[in-house]
Amino acid sequence: MTQHTAPTETVVSLAGITKRFGDTVALDDASLDVRRGEVVVLLGLSGSGKSTLLRHVDGLDRPTDGRVTVLGREVTGLTGRALRQLRSEVGFIFQQFELVPSLTVLENVLTGSLASLRGPRLGLWSYGRSAKVEALARLERVGLLDRAYQRADTLSGGQQQRVAIARALMQRPQVLLADEPVASLDPESSDQVMALIREIAADEGLTVICSLHQVDLALSWADRIVGLRHGRVVLDTETEGLSKAQVMEIYGRVATSTDQFEAIELELSAAGVLGAGGAADARGTAGGAASVTGDTVR
Ligand SMILES: Nc1ncnc2c1ncn2[C@@H]1O[C@H](COP(=O)(O)OP(=O)(O)O)[C@@H](O)[C@H]1O
Ligand SMILES: [Mg+2]
Repeated sequence: MTQHTAPTETVVSLAGITKRFGDTVALDDASLDVRRGEVVVLLGLSGSGKSTLLRHVDGLDRPTDGRVTVLGREVTGLTGRALRQLRSEVGFIFQQFELVPSLTVLENVLTGSLASLRGPRLGLWSYGRSAKVEALARLERVGLLDRAYQRADTLSGGQQQRVAIARALMQRPQVLLADEPVASLDPESSDQVMALIREIAADEGLTVICSLHQVDLALSWADRIVGLRHGRVVLDTETEGLSKAQVMEIYGRVATSTDQFEAIELELSAAGVLGAGGAADARGTAGGAASVTGDTVR
């Protein structure tokens, strides 16, 4: 499924990352290696450490302990120009799109090229012709060329996320980080956005790390699923041949709080996997194994 240009080349490596915020342990000895061209989904409930992990990849957060290596550079040691250079090679998209609502779609996409320009740019006139041509091509790639001159806030959520993807591509990134990119979208738009991310990753040899909290989407779109729970990696497996039941079983086994059971039940019933007695089964499985103390489940 994945188009590896060099299957063994690791482009993102987190080795034993622990991140503490005061008393909170957001990441707990988390390790992860991502190869070029891979689409990895970080799966985990709210608060499991997904955003924190992503923020370590481009140096927005610094680890309390452990090492982060991205594109052959140790991120923990980077500052100033070297850090900006790394960030220009790592695109980031977010749940809330983060577009400038009053600017046109085209201007929003053009802001993605700012990393390679000196000083701020205001208005379309300030971008060179080649940047505009490239931005229009990016918009065409995400299927929104006809919206170029519309204000960003007149677009639907799914369209706005596609604009954000076009903007991220203006950096010509090698790695794309996506933090819950479809959490605000309806199921149809979610599928469209995930499909687009996958296609672009395959076309451009882009390495993608994307956080999600829906098991179905992860199974549909990831090459590999990395499950986080309380900042620990509890699952790291290729998706091929993996069933929803297997993923949920691991989730069930590691869920220890009522909130987590409820989230799992909601997820299962939304997917139509659970019948009336199913939730009780899931709870039984989870409850039965809640005393298991091993943290790493593979
Ligand atoms: N800047 C921060 N300051 C304090 N606590 C934080 C900060 N960022 C994250 N946390 C805490 O770290 C844990 C993991 O958060 P996060 O990475 O946002 O999880 P997720 O993205 O999976 O919902 C949570 O308990 C969260 O409250
Ligand atoms: Mg988050």
